Formats: sequence, C-alpha cells, structure tokens
Amino acid sequence: MSIVFQGDAARGRIWQDIFAEAEPDLSFHHWPDVGDPEAVTYIVGWKPIPDLAARFPALKVMFSSGAGVDQFAPHMIPDSVSLVRMIEPGIAATMAEYVTLATLLLHRNFKAYANQQAEGRWEQIRVYPATARTVGVMGLGNLGQAALTQLGHLGFKLRGWNRSPRALDGVECFTGPAELGSFLSGCDILICMLPLTDETRGILSASLFVQLPQGAGLINVGRGAHLVEPDLLAALESGQVTSAVLDVTDVEPLPPGHPFWTHPGITLTPHIASMTQPETAARVLLDNIRRHRDGETMIGLVDLGRGY
Ligand code: GLV
Repeated sequence: MSIVFQGDAARGRIWQDIFAEAEPDLSFHHWPDVGDPEAVTYIVGWKPIPDLAARFPALKVMFSSGAGVDQFAPHMIPDSVSLVRMIEPGIAATMAEYVTLATLLLHRNFKAYANQQAEGRWEQIRVYPATARTVGVMGLGNLGQAALTQLGHLGFKLRGWNRSPRALDGVECFTGPAELGSFLSGCDILICMLPLTDETRGILSASLFVQLPQGAGLINVGRGAHLVEPDLLAALESGQVTSAVLDVTDVEPLPPGHPFWTHPGITLTPHIASMTQPETAARVLLDNIRRHRDGETMIGLVDLGRGY
C-alpha cells in the first residue's frame, strides 16, 4: 500500500515526516515518483491525473489537497475511487483571516484611500461602526461558518445563504433560490464562499447585483467562474457595487491587460485567501485513511452528483 503526494516539494516533506511517524508501513511518494503504480491506494493532490483507473488499478481514494473539487469532473474519477475534499482547520483559519481583512477593507474604504494616496489627495469619508453594516455569506459550509464567527466578533450584523437549511447562532439564515432575493436585499457586503457547481456558475451576475442595496461591496473567494466579469464592471460603473475584493478570476493568472488589474474599484489577490496547512491537513488525512480502512464515512467525502 502506498500514498502519492502531488504538490509543492517543501510542504510535501512535512506531510512525509508526519506520515513516516504515524503510518510507517504506508510508503509515501512525491509525484512524479509513484513507486510501484499497482501499489498506490491513495493519492493526495490538486491537479487531476489522466487515466487514473488504468494507471493506478488499486487506487481507492483521491484526496483533494484543497477545499475545492471542481477541477475533478465526475468522469475523471473511476467508480471504484472515492473523491474527498480537504476539510482541515488550517484552511478555515486562513480563509477566515482573509475574509475578515477584505470585509474591513470594504467597510473602512481602504481602496478609496489607496487611490487617494496614489493621487496625493487627502479626503475623509464618513466612518460607520461595524454594527451599522450587514455582511452576507453565500455558502455556509465549514469555511463560511469560520468566516462568520470572526465577523461576528467585530460586531457586524450577519446573514447567510445556503442551498440546504442551516441554523447558526447570531446569523440570519436564508435557504435556496426562493430566499435569495430577501437575503441579498440586506447585504451591505456580500461574500461568495460557494462551491463551483452547474447551479452556482455565473451566480454573481447583473441580475444578482441589482438585488443588493445600492453601493454594496463584493468579496469573491469562491471561484472565478462564479462571477460574470463584464457584469461586475458594469455594476461598478453604475455605482450599484462600489468596490470588490477578488481572490479568484475566471482565467488564472489574470491575463495581462485585463481591466481588473487597474480598476479603481477592485482589489485583487492571486488566489491566496486560504492555503492548506500541512501540519493540520496531514492529521485530517491520517484520520480519513483510518476511517477508510475501518469502513467509516470519510470527512469531506464528495457526492459527485451534487459536486461537493
Ligand atoms: C483553493 O481554492 C482550494 O479550493 O483549496
């Protein structure tokens, strides 16, 4: 039995050390070294590997090293293989940090001040307390919940929208397409933390922006394909949206010359909102391998039909 790790070599060595101690009988390989392909039972990685079934006939579980699994189309995963997304405290903690930072940045007009500084202007904008603003999170999984907890500590009013019903302390929760409009109508700052599926692709569009209060802020830490990019440019132009923080874009890296690079209403980061932390993720993986061996349900097991 062996496990293949596909990813950054330095972080891979941390996984390997933890595995060597906890599972000495499971041989650990760094992609592209796979050892004996017929002995590979587990792969942990980010990029889909073509011909999985033919190359690794004994493969049992494909673990995504990140939270998202939209890069794995259902036909890429053989029937005999389970797909598992990464649910680990390090991703949730780093995501909550980023979302808090981005929310405060919008709340306290930091993009406007960055623009002013570049132009040598000194102009004050009225300050409101966090308690005067409502922040809405789309997607109430473990990442959405971690972000809401931090935002709650700052005093923001909280809303959440999810496909299936959720009840969270201190958060006004809305469910499904029927309640999307009421949810949006109260969000001064909207945060997209949804998984990318056929239902959520392009959800951040003109028809959604018009349902927000005039002048709302937008944060996208989901996937670039959640956002219809020309619709955001139009919403910024009309003032329906005042400012956006984007960690993901439709094409990554964002192509040279793309209007987002220089737009005065857009703050851009290169898909770093959260990052899997090997020290905590390796522990989660070890627990899932134990669960798999003992016939228990693995944490983060993906329903390929649903897409997450
Ligand atoms: C990053 O985007 C991830 O899905 O972990």
